Amino acid sequence: MAMAGFLYRNGTLHAEEVPLARIAEAVGTPFYCYSTSVLVGQYRAFKQALGGTDAMICYALKANSNQAVIRTFAELGAGADVVSEGELRRALAAGVPAERIVFAGVGKTRDEMAVALDAGILQFNVESEPELAALDEVARSKGRRAQFALRVNPDVAAGTHAKITTGTKENKFGIDIGRARRVYDLARNRPGLQAASVAVHIGSQLTDLAPFRSAFARVRDLVGELRADGHDIRRMDFGGGLGVAYRDGQVPAIADYLALVREAADGLACGIIVEPGRIMVAEAGVLVSRVIYVKSGEARRFIVVDSAMNDLIRPTLYEAYHAIVAVREPESTGKRPDGGDFELADVVGPICESGDYFAQQRPMPRVADGDLLAIKSAGAYGAVMSSSYNSRLLIPEVLVNGEQFAVVRPRPRFEDLLGQDRLPPWQTGTQQSNPSPDAVKFKSGGAKAGTAQSGQGSTGRKIGAA
Ligand code: LLP
Repeated sequence: MAMAGFLYRNGTLHAEEVPLARIAEAVGTPFYCYSTSVLVGQYRAFKQALGGTDAMICYALKANSNQAVIRTFAELGAGADVVSEGELRRALAAGVPAERIVFAGVGKTRDEMAVALDAGILQFNVESEPELAALDEVARSKGRRAQFALRVNPDVAAGTHAKITTGTKENKFGIDIGRARRVYDLARNRPGLQAASVAVHIGSQLTDLAPFRSAFARVRDLVGELRADGHDIRRMDFGGGLGVAYRDGQVPAIADYLALVREAADGLACGIIVEPGRIMVAEAGVLVSRVIYVKSGEARRFIVVDSAMNDLIRPTLYEAYHAIVAVREPESTGKRPDGGDFELADVVGPICESGDYFAQQRPMPRVADGDLLAIKSAGAYGAVMSSSYNSRLLIPEVLVNGEQFAVVRPRPRFEDLLGQDRLPPWQTGTQQSNPSPDAVKFKSGGAKAGTAQSGQGSTGRKIGAA
């Protein structure tokens, strides 16, 4: 737990050696800030705990796919777990060798399979029989044999949030473990397929090791059965899912989690793949925002900040807790957070939805307009899930390394945002037969405006053609 990522020094919160206030000055707010030392520390913890095994740490890009983050891991020898052509391209662009890439996901298209085969990735984690058939077809059309794992669904309840649990019968993920042998057998006579591995992933943000233990034990049994059936299973892919301490509290240590992985693979002479996402990056990131207003409502105090649910959707989507601290260190009064110097507040963004909050009824230090806040543990599933809802610009990402920092994704300009849209020819007047002057009158709110708004007359007719 040597995470010297974000600490107060001289009364102000630093990212490693750099005061966050200085970054705010340089790039404006809001922004995401990541710490290299935390990223490296997490990777090393995995590496160390898997020492002596034939293991590949395939970082799950979905948690944070900034290429500077991927590169940080790639330089340490990491592989990648990708779920789309976009992620595959990012992994390759950031320097992950193709032979360290696994392609997961329930809906890979044939085009995506083709791109991945051409790139020469290590394996496809297949989630259904139709997908397996498609992979066979695509691989054969290229004269290739695709190495695959079936992602089995072990029917284990992960005890995590419903939206991120994946390993039960009710989920869309994987192939029921009871059917797995039959499906592997189907693949036997398909020249485009090579059974090489078994994969499992039961959910995300698990804070209890027991579900992992039972899932892994089932996978171990299956590997034995498949080998007895004559399949050359060479790798076991244990997925991701280890949770982080968003609140103070006990979460399993990386080494204890990986002890289960080692145990499940013990004596099988199998390569090990793990696909950690969140645990690698969550604590490595903060979202820094400026207080715009402190608004005292009838019943509540609202701290209105300049970031919003479009930047970090986890609180409203998953009822997720993220600690929020003031960048200027609150004076130590020795009082507890719920004492005099702290007041209950809702920390909210400017978006026109009640769901736009980061915290509700949270003991917060006294802050004033212009103060900076840091929303913690925001390195995973933060920037990657952001949008430009309300026509807000995506926010920059900054990577700190010791005394240095660099903008690793610049803030777009409003021209970029507006430039994404195109007006159709009938609105720009550039189509071959331009609307008649009558049509223009019609468009600008004549007597027939109601007709236009109701959407009638739009079946292929030009406005005013009636
Ligand atoms: N492997 C597979 C097949 C996955 O589906 C996932 C995550 C991972 C690995 C990485 O899991 P992790 O180590 O990050 O738990 N947006 C949600 C989390 C969704 C996780 C989806 N799958 C959140 O913000 O909590």
